[in-house]
Amino acid sequence: MSAAESHVMVDVELKEVTKESWPEVMNLAFKLEQGGLVAPNFYRVREFKAEPTFVQLAIFHEENVVGFAMYGLDPDDGKYWVYRLMIDVDQQRKGFGKAALIKLIDMMSELPDCDEIFVGYRPENFVAHALYMSAGFKRTGQMLQGEYIARLDLKEK
Ligand SMILES: CC(C)(COP(=O)(O)OP(=O)(O)OC[C@H]1O[C@@H](n2cnc3c(N)ncnc32)[C@H](O)[C@@H]1OP(=O)(O)O)[C@@H](O)C(=O)NCCC(=O)NCCS
Repeated sequence: MSAAESHVMVDVELKEVTKESWPEVMNLAFKLEQGGLVAPNFYRVREFKAEPTFVQLAIFHEENVVGFAMYGLDPDDGKYWVYRLMIDVDQQRKGFGKAALIKLIDMMSELPDCDEIFVGYRPENFVAHALYMSAGFKRTGQMLQGEYIARLDLKEK
């Protein structure tokens, strides 16, 4: 049984960001900035790139974009990271973040060279902490650029 099947979850779909979904993604990133939920300029890429370094995913619920996440192999450390998991302010606390993270983990588990996943979050971000811990991530004890680093060992799943 996959991680996704072992949870009763709201329905979300992860689809690569396209030119069409890009404005909606930017809108929710902007709302999060304005709400103080993410640092100003948290999301710096203002233009859609057809071939980004990391895979950019729009999180859909019933045809609407409710969130965004990005993952990929960081060329600096050769490790797989999930970056910028975010859910629209008006759509938070409905289970979308958790459902999207579980789907993303399942998706990344299928990659032939991915046996661990790293994330970073600010120490005061207790929601991100709870979310990642509930999905099986454990803090490494490391801090990078003011963020706690946590790791999920896919071999233990
Ligand atoms: C972190 C974030 C993605 C969570 O998304 P979400 O859809 O609101 O989360 P969910 O509804 O799936 O809840 C996930 C878990 O966090 C808990 N949680 C969510 N919001 C909470 C809050 N405001 N207070 C306390 N707990 C909260 C839930 O209880 C849930 O835990 P569970 O396993 O017990 O159900 C969202 O808050 C967000 O976009 N934050 C801003 C960006 C960010 O901080 N990203 C992560 C670091 S880069």
